[in-house]
Amino acid sequence: GGPGLLAGKTVLITAGPTREAVDPVRYLSNRSSGRMGFAIAEAAARAGAKVLLVSGPVSLSTPPGVERVDVESARQMQEAVMTLAPNADVFIAAAAVADYRPAETAERKLKKDSGDELAGMKLVENPDILAGVAAMKKDRPFTVGFAAETNDVEANARKKLEKKQLDLIAANQVGADRGFDRDDNELLLLDAKGSTPLGAGSKRELAGKLLAVIADRIQ
Ligand code: PMT
Repeated sequence: GGPGLLAGKTVLITAGPTREAVDPVRYLSNRSSGRMGFAIAEAAARAGAKVLLVSGPVSLSTPPGVERVDVESARQMQEAVMTLAPNADVFIAAAAVADYRPAETAERKLKKDSGDELAGMKLVENPDILAGVAAMKKDRPFTVGFAAETNDVEANARKKLEKKQLDLIAANQVGADRGFDRDDNELLLLDAKGSTPLGAGSKRELAGKLLAVIADRIQ
C-alpha cells in the first residue's frame, strides 16, 4: 500500500501463536512466528494508519509507528481485541489462535508418573476472537480473517468466511514447508462476490497487496 492509503484509519491486527498453559513449565501452541501479522502491521503504518498490534509470544521487533500489546493465551488476546475493536476501522486476524486449552492449568509441574494427568488431559474450546468481532452490533470494524489450510484451501476458507460472517478472508496453504515461520507466502482472497488470487511473494509484498484491497473496500 502506498503512503496515505490508510491515512485517518485505525487498523487492529492480531499476530503470532497463543500459548495455553498446562502447568508452570508446559504449554500447547503452534508454529506461527508472527511474521505475517507483523508484515501487515508494518505496511499499514507505512500506509498512514494508526496501527494496534495484539501479539502472542514471538521473537520479532515492533515495526516503527506500531502500538503493540503482548498477550500469551487466547483469552488474553480476546480481552485485548474486544477492548480495542470498537475504535478500529479494520480488524485483521493473522494470529494462529489455539483452538483448545487445557480445562485446568496445574499450579505445580505435573509429574510424568502422575497417572493420566498428562496423558488424559482434558481440553476445552477457546473463544473465537474473529467471530466475536464479526458479531459486534455496534462500531463493528471491517473484519478480515485468515484461513490456514493444508488441503481444499478455497472450499475450507469459504466455509470460514460464511460461518464467521466476515467481510473478507485471506486463505493460505500451510504445511511442513508452507505458510508458517518463513518469509514467503501465497494468498487467495475470498469475499461474497468471488475470489482474487494475490499470488506468491514475500509476506511484506503480500501485506501491501492485501491492504490495497482493504483500503479500496472501505472507501
Ligand atoms: O505467523 P507466521 O509464521 O508468519 O505464519 C502465518 C500464518 C500461517 C499463521 C497466517 O498467514 C495465518 O494463516 N493465520 C491464521 C492461522 C489460523 O489460525 O487459521 P484458522 O484457519 O485456524 O483460523 C481462522 C481465522 O480465525 C484466523 O483469522 C484466526 O486468527 C481466527 N481465529 C481462530 C480461532 C480462534 N479461537 N480465534 C480466532 O480469532
